[in-house]
Amino acid sequence: MSQDKKKVDMDKIVSLCKRRGFIFPSSEIYGGLGSCWDYGPLGVELKRNVRNAWWRTVVQEREDMVGIDASIMMHPQTWVASGHVEGFSDPLVECKNCHLRWRADQLNGDKCPECGGELTESRMFNLMFKTFMGSVEEEANIVYLRPETAQGIFVNFENVRSSMRKKLPFGIAQIGKSFRNEITTGNFIFRTREFEQMETEYFVKPGTDEGWFDYWVKERFNWYLNLGIKKENLRLRQHGREELAHYAKDCYDVEYLFPMNWAELEGIANRGDFDLTQHAKYSGKGLDYFDEETNERYVPYVIEPSAGVDRSVLAFLVDSYDEDVAEGETRVVMHLHNGLAPIKVAVLPLSKNERLVPLAREIYTEIRRHFMTQYDDAQSIGRRYRRQDEIGTPFCVTIDFQSLEDKQVTIRERDTMVQIRLPIQELMNTLLAKLGGETFTNQTGWSAKEIGA
Ligand code: GAP
Repeated sequence: MSQDKKKVDMDKIVSLCKRRGFIFPSSEIYGGLGSCWDYGPLGVELKRNVRNAWWRTVVQEREDMVGIDASIMMHPQTWVASGHVEGFSDPLVECKNCHLRWRADQLNGDKCPECGGELTESRMFNLMFKTFMGSVEEEANIVYLRPETAQGIFVNFENVRSSMRKKLPFGIAQIGKSFRNEITTGNFIFRTREFEQMETEYFVKPGTDEGWFDYWVKERFNWYLNLGIKKENLRLRQHGREELAHYAKDCYDVEYLFPMNWAELEGIANRGDFDLTQHAKYSGKGLDYFDEETNERYVPYVIEPSAGVDRSVLAFLVDSYDEDVAEGETRVVMHLHNGLAPIKVAVLPLSKNERLVPLAREIYTEIRRHFMTQYDDAQSIGRRYRRQDEIGTPFCVTIDFQSLEDKQVTIRERDTMVQIRLPIQELMNTLLAKLGGETFTNQTGWSAKEIGA
């Protein structure tokens, strides 16, 4: 049974993530904490691979991009200038009976969806988390946990431009945690109160912004396709006028067909000159740009592709999940892109026999210098293949008794289950070629020559 046509349900993904060490409920031994999740040993690798794939495409491979890592707590005036203190709010109602809180704009009727109780009048609720800096809890010491990483980029525009001698158009990228006290959370890691963003602010000359906006919408859409997301599960949706954020001239969402429905994976907005103008006004520091080619001074416009790390992780997990039949049994397999797979290679001695172990461990030690590698000698070889398929490991290397004689091992490929035998001497180069030094372009399967076809 292939899951291509039938979407996997979220419970299967949540259960696989827990069982195989991808994602656990946070502080579970205390009963968990609403909407908070911990990435386990495999989840942390997958998440890191998503970040690295993004950084590589958006920063490393581009001449016009640089990165920063700004602090999560920023001067409180930042959030006055950005409009978040005034306007980063959702309408909230509370049930007078069970005291659950709901977003008024997401309710169908005027009763509590949980118990049918009467609801309070709606009031605006600011989504920023507040805390105090220093030992005195007073108004003057209030700081916020950032609700987006973007503002850390805007306030550093001039520092980056002058230190890196950047000319327009150029962009600044950042990956980091953001916090929003969302009224309603849910759908696993889709909407949480603590999450991670991958944001780019791309500064351009006013008048060229619409062209750059189109460019970034396409770039970002293709990024997901290049990492294996199926085209039929991805679409673009333009925001209507009434839906645009206060700063946006135009905005597209890249939407993914999650198990619950189509939903936003990433937003790409044309923010015009809103942010730099606001920060110049509130800080008193000029944030305009002198264009040496035209001898003009102007405030750059900004195109902002803003993606969620956790939502991307969820989309990659859902999209790669499949069930098929291997040797008469249902096998769960994650067809994760090689670059994203948490474990790239599994080393599997045929048994725990003491004659096999030294060679198997020698091979394991060598491979793990290059790739995340697992050594597994527990249970039958079939069971071990299944375990690796379920976590998306692209290659398994098997060492058997013949390997001791002929110095050859078997490599098995996850997706096709094709096995080839090759000299140990060629193993490392073959794996390096197959895993492509983590290049995020073509997924490389076996060639006809390699499988002797
Ligand atoms: N700087 C623009 C900005 O923050 P956004 O649409 O509010 O725009 C961008 O957020 C991305 O951040 C979303 O597309 C989503 O992937 C992620 N994101 C936002 N809120 C989230 C939440 N509560 N939980 C998980 N991811 C979230």
